[in-house]
Amino acid sequence: MIDRGHGLFVTLEGADGGGKTTQLRRLATRLRAAGADVLETVEPGGTPIGRKIREILLDKSNAEMDRHTELLLYFAARAQNVHEWILPHLARGGVVLCDRFTDSTLAYQGGGRGFGEETVLALHRIACGTLQPDVTVYLDIDAETGLNRARTGRGNLDRMDAQSLEFHRSVRAAYLRLAEAEPERIVTIDASPGANEVELAVWAAVAPRWERTLVR
Ligand code: TMP
Repeated sequence: MIDRGHGLFVTLEGADGGGKTTQLRRLATRLRAAGADVLETVEPGGTPIGRKIREILLDKSNAEMDRHTELLLYFAARAQNVHEWILPHLARGGVVLCDRFTDSTLAYQGGGRGFGEETVLALHRIACGTLQPDVTVYLDIDAETGLNRARTGRGNLDRMDAQSLEFHRSVRAAYLRLAEAEPERIVTIDASPGANEVELAVWAAVAPRWERTLVR
C-alpha cells in the first residue's frame, strides 16, 4: 500500500439535498486560491471503473439488489478510488476533497440497512487499509427537507433517494452518532442556511487544517 504522505484528506458528508456538491466545489476554489494542489473526487464514481459501479448502484431498475451486494459494490468503487487516485495524490502532498467516503457507508448501510459499524469497518480495512480522513465536514439536514431538495434539484430520484423516509431518518441518526463519537475529526455544520453562509462555515473548519499541513 502506498504511503499516504503529507497530503490533506478532506471528506464531505450528509444527506442528498444538503448542498455537498456545491460546497465541495467552493471549497476546492478557496483551497486552490490558497495554493493547494487539489483533487476533487466522489464516492461512488470517482474513477472510470467507479462510474460503472455507480450506475449499477443507483439504477432504479435494480430494485431487487440485495443489501450485501450494495454494501460490497460501494466498497469496490472505493477501493479503486483509494488506490488509483486518492493515495497517490496524498503521497504527492496534495489535498484530496472527496464527496462522501466510509462515513456514508456507516450511515447508509451500517445504519439505514442495519449492518452495524463492525461489518462496515472490517470492509473498510480491506478496501482502504488504515486510510482515514483528516477532517470530515458533515452537512446536517433533516430527512424531509433533504429529500424535498434532492427531488426538486434533480427532478427524479435514484435507487437510494427512493428509499423510505424512515430509511433516511435512520441514516441521519447514524450520522449524528458518528459526529458525536468523533468530534475532533467530524465537524457538523447546519446545512439549512443559504450556500454562502454554509461556505464560510466549511472554510472555517478546513482552513486551519490546511494551514497546519504547510508547516509539516
Ligand atoms: P450522491 O448522490 O451523493 O453522489 O450519492 C449516491 C447515493 O449513494 C446517495 O444516496 C448516498 C448513497 N451512498 C451509500 O448508500 N453508501 C455509500 O457508501 C456511499 C458513498 C453513498
